[in-house]
Amino acid sequence: MPLSKIAGIGMYVPEKVVTNNDLKKWMDTDDNWIQERTGIQERRFAKRTEETTTTMAVEAAKIAIERAGITAQDIDFIVFATLSPDYYFPGCGVLVQRAMNMKEVGALDIRNQCSGFLYAISVADQFIKTGMYKNILVIGAEKHSMGLDFSTRGRNVSVIFGDGAGAVVLQPTEKNNQGILSTHLHSDGASAEILAQYNPGSHANHWVETPVADFDEAEIGEMFMSHQMIDNAQLFPFMDGPTVFKKAIVKFPEVIVEALTKNGYTTEDLNILIPHQANLRISQFVQQKLKLRDDQVYNNIMRYGNTTAASVPIALCEAWQNGKIKEGDLVCLAAFGSGFTWASALLKW
Ligand code: UT7
Repeated sequence: MPLSKIAGIGMYVPEKVVTNNDLKKWMDTDDNWIQERTGIQERRFAKRTEETTTTMAVEAAKIAIERAGITAQDIDFIVFATLSPDYYFPGCGVLVQRAMNMKEVGALDIRNQCSGFLYAISVADQFIKTGMYKNILVIGAEKHSMGLDFSTRGRNVSVIFGDGAGAVVLQPTEKNNQGILSTHLHSDGASAEILAQYNPGSHANHWVETPVADFDEAEIGEMFMSHQMIDNAQLFPFMDGPTVFKKAIVKFPEVIVEALTKNGYTTEDLNILIPHQANLRISQFVQQKLKLRDDQVYNNIMRYGNTTAASVPIALCEAWQNGKIKEGDLVCLAAFGSGFTWASALLKW
C-alpha cells in the first residue's frame, strides 16, 4: 500500500497586522498581559469586505498546487477544515472547487476546530492509501476577525485568534519510508461546551449553561437566531481558558508519544514538532515535558496568534520555507482543541 506524502505546501496570511496595542482601541487589555499569558505579539486580520475564509484558502492552495507541480485541474478531492466558514452551509470545499475552476470533484468539510487540519490530513491519507485519489487538496483556513467579541467582555477569547490559511497537496509516494507514517485521532465530548459557539444551533438549550431565554413558541426561529442572542452576546464563542489549558498540556504530549511509539521512535529521533499554535505557554510546557530542544519545536504564534485549523499548515509551511525541514526528517504534527478533540500525524519528509 503506498503512503501519502506532502507534495506541495502553501500558506497565506492577510497583509493587515494587528498588534496587541491596536486591540486596546476596542477593549481593556494590555500588551504585557497578552504576551505573558499567550506569547502573542501580533496577528493578521483579513480585509473585512474583500477577504473570506475561502479567498485566503485559495491563495494558499494556489501555492501548494504549484509546488506540487500540478494544476487545479489535477486535483481529484478537496478536504477543507474550518470553524469560520463563509456560509453556515454549504461548506468552503465547494467554494474552493468553484473559485479554482476544478473538475466536479468531491469536496468535504471538516468541523474539528483546532484539530481540523489533522483530521483532514488523516481522512485524505486514507483515500490515497486505498488508491481512490491521487491528488488531494487539504486546507485549513480561518477568518476569525469576523466573529469575535472585541469588547472587554470577550477579551479572554478575542485577543488570541488571528486569520490565515494553509494548504497541502497529498499524493501517493513511490519511495519507501517517506510520507505520512501514521495519524492518531481522539475525542472527549464530555467537555464539548467548554470551548464552543452554541448559537446558531439546534441544541434546544439541552446542554447549554446559559440558555436562550424567553423565546416565543410562535416564533420558531427565535431559538436559532434572535435579537436577544445579539444583545446577550450569545452569538460569540465561549471558552473556559484555564480548563482548556489544563487538558491541552496532558493530551498534547500523550498524542505525540503515541505517534512516535507506534512507529518505533522516541522523542530523540524527532527532527521537528509542529504543534497547533494555541498558546506559546502550552507549546513550552509540551517541549519541557517531552525534553525537546528548542530546535525541535517550531512556534510562530507570536506573529499570527491562534489561527485554529490553519495554524498547523501555516507553521509547517513556514518551517519548511525557513529551511527547518529537510528531506528524510522526522516531523510530528499535533493539535488539541474544542470538542475536545486532539490528534497527531508522524511524517518522514
Ligand atoms: O486553540 C484553541 C484552544 N484554546 C486554548 O488552548 C486556550 C487555552 N487557555 C489559555 O490559553 C489561557 O487560559 C488564556 C490565555 C485564554 C487565559 O489565560 P489565563 O491565565 O487562564 O487567564 P484567566 O482566563 O484565568 O483570566 C485571568 C485574569 C482575569 O481577571 P481576574 O478575574 O483575575 O481579575 C481576566 O478577566 O485576566 C483577565 N483577562 C484579561 N486581562 C487583560 C482575561 N483576558 C484578558 C485580556 N487582557 N485580554
